[in-house]
Formats: sequence, structure tokens, C-alpha cells
Amino acid sequence: MNDKRITVYAGSFDPITNGHLDLLDRALKIFDNIIIAVAENPAKQPLFTLEERLDLIRASLKNHQKPDRIRVDSFKGLLVDYVERCGAMAILRGLRAVSDFEYEFQMALMNRKLSRTPETLYLMTGARWIYISSRIIKEVVQAGGRVTGLVPEAVEKKLREKFEIDSA
Ligand code: PNS
Repeated sequence: MNDKRITVYAGSFDPITNGHLDLLDRALKIFDNIIIAVAENPAKQPLFTLEERLDLIRASLKNHQKPDRIRVDSFKGLLVDYVERCGAMAILRGLRAVSDFEYEFQMALMNRKLSRTPETLYLMTGARWIYISSRIIKEVVQAGGRVTGLVPEAVEKKLREKFEIDSA
């Protein structure tokens, strides 16, 4: 029997932000192992390819203090099936504001309908990241703004390359 407490932190991560990393560190206080699972979601049109998103997560975790407790992976199809294959007990998601609630509530209940096995666990990001989302980060960089301190360095660099913005 696997007695490790494993959770799957699922999302699009398009791209990963400091808010995601904050949540990861909070979850490491509760779980033994965390699998960051990037969805290969054909319904969404991400800015970054799956490989780019995985690479950016790995680059952002390069100096992490507990690398042996974190795995970075991707999945296709239903999240609950992936969670079961991983032997995880929970799906981890972040909650920022009330506006997140409706979507998250719907997703958690649908996942519960699909499988009784994993519980969905919500953690609050730190207050300093509460207004950050991958979407707003992309919008700011595309419009020529800086997001230094809100995303890992590798992410800001890649965003500027993607939008062909001079880094000077
Ligand atoms: O970061 P996101 O885009 O809000 O993450 C959403 C994600 C990837 C967790 C969700 O779309 C998902 O689980 N996709 C896999 C397909 C699935 O299982 N759908 C049913 C759950 S609603």
C-alpha cells in the first residue's frame, strides 16, 4: 500500500506564476508529494505549447528546496483518471477571489460525480499574489508592461520572446 500523501496540482499553467509557486509551497506542508500536472487540453488554445509549459515549470523549480517531493508531468483526458493512475488522494487547486468560486465549484462537483476517489482541496494563495492570473500576466506583457517579481525570471523572458518585446 502506498502510504504517501500525494496530491495532483492540475492546471493549464500557461504560464506558471509566482501565485502557483506559492500554492505549491503551502501544499508541501500538507502532502508528502505533489505532482504538477499540466493539462493537454484540446479545447483550449494556450499561448505556450505543452513542452514549453513543462520546461518553464521545471526552470522555475530549478532552485527549489524540496525537488524530490515534486514531480512535473502532463495528462490527457479526464483529470480523475489521471489522479487515480498516480495513486493520489486529492486534486489541488488554488482559490483567489469569489470570482473563481463558481468555476471551481462546478469542476469539483463534476469530478466527484466522475469519481468518488479524490477529494478536491482548495488552498488560498498568499495575499500578495491574489490579483495574479496567467491570463492577466500575458495581457500585461503583450501590451508592453513588466511583470518582474510576479512570475519566475524564465517565464518573463519567454513571454517577452513570445510577444517579440525588446528586453532592454
Ligand atoms: O488552469 P485551468 O485551465 O483552470 O485548469 C483546468 C483543468 C486543466 C484542471 C481542467 O480543465 C481539467 O481538469 N481538464 C481535464 C479534463 C477533465 O477532467 N474535465 C472534467 C473536469 S471539469
